[in-house]
Amino acid sequence: MAVIQNGEIVLSNIVASQINSHRRFGGVVPEVASRHHVEQITLCLDEALEEAGISPDRLQAVAVTYGPGLVGALLIGLSAAKAFAWAHGLPLIPVNHMAGHIYAARLVQPLEFPLMALLVSGGHTELVYMVEDGSYEIIGETRDDAAGEAYDKVGRVLGLSYPSGKELDQLAHQGEDTYKFPRAMLKEDNFDFSFSGLKSAFINLVHNAEQRGEVLDIANLAASFQASVVEVLVAKTIRACQTYPVKQLVIAGGVAANQGLREGMTQALAEELPGIDLVIPALKLCGDNAAMIGAAAHVELKKQHVAEMDLNAVPSLAFQHI
Ligand code: KG4
Ligand code: ZN
Repeated sequence: MAVIQNGEIVLSNIVASQINSHRRFGGVVPEVASRHHVEQITLCLDEALEEAGISPDRLQAVAVTYGPGLVGALLIGLSAAKAFAWAHGLPLIPVNHMAGHIYAARLVQPLEFPLMALLVSGGHTELVYMVEDGSYEIIGETRDDAAGEAYDKVGRVLGLSYPSGKELDQLAHQGEDTYKFPRAMLKEDNFDFSFSGLKSAFINLVHNAEQRGEVLDIANLAASFQASVVEVLVAKTIRACQTYPVKQLVIAGGVAANQGLREGMTQALAEELPGIDLVIPALKLCGDNAAMIGAAAHVELKKQHVAEMDLNAVPSLAFQHI
C-alpha cells in the first residue's frame, strides 16, 4: 500500500512480506497468500496513510492491480480498493502489475520515449517497447520459464530457501563461470528467451554429481548459472536496443535487483550504445510494491482511464495497447 504524489514522489510505500509463510513450502501457496492479504490489507492501508501524513479527503484517485497474478490475492486488493474508493468518492484506476514494474523507473527519473524495458520477474521475462506513456509492445518473451523462476528452481536443488534469487546472486559473486552452461537462443534472430534448458542442465549436473559422490563447488555453480542468464539477457536486450530507436533502457521486476545483471547491462550499454540512458529502480522498488502501481496509475488517470465498480481480477492479464 502506497501514497504517491504526481506519479513520481513516494510519500509512503508499505510492503507486507509474506515470504516467511511460503518458505517452508518452497514456493507461493495461493491459499496462504490470500489469507495473508486479508489479514494485512487494512493494516497496510492505515499505515500507508499515516506514514504519508495524508487523510483520504486529500487523495485524487485509488489505483489497484487487477492482473496478472493469483486470483485470490487480486480479488482482495480489488475489494479493498473498491470499498475505499466508493466510501471516499474517488475514481478507481485499473493497473496492470507488469506496467507497474516498468513505472517503478518513473520513481527514479522521468521516462523518455521511445524506451525499451526488460521485465524480469518470478513469472515474466519480456522485452517491452514503449513509444509513449501507457503503450506497450512485447517484442520478445520467454518461451518457457521466467528468469526468476529459473533462479528459484535451481536454488531449491541447492537447498537454498525460497525465493533464492538474491542468495544465488550473492554466491555467484564468490565464484567463477567454470561449468559453462548453455546460452539458450543467444544466436537466434529474435528477442525471445528460454531458461528451461539451462535449468535442466543445472539440475542434471547436480544429480549426476550426487550419484557419483562428487562434490561440486556451489559458488562456481551459482556463478556459472548466473553468467548464462546474464549473458543472454544482456545480449538480447542490447540487440533490441540496436534494432529499435530507443532513448532509454529500463530494467524492471524482481530480477532487476540482480547485481550481475546490473553490472553486465551497465557495462554492455556503455560499450555498445553509450547514447542510451539506463534506468534501474532502487532495490526496494524492483520487487513487488505498491508505489510502482501508483506511478503507473498516474498515466491512466491522465487519460481518464477509470474503472467501473464491477472491475474483475484478470489472473493472466496481458499488456494492451491503450
Ligand atoms: O517481481 P517480483 O518481486 O515478483 C513477481 O512479480 O514475480 O520477482 C520475484 C523474483 C523471484 O523469482 C526472486 O528469486 C527474484 O525475483 N529475485 C532475484 C534477485 N532478487 C529477487 N533474482 C536474481 N537475483 C536477485 N538478486
Ligand atoms: Zn511482480
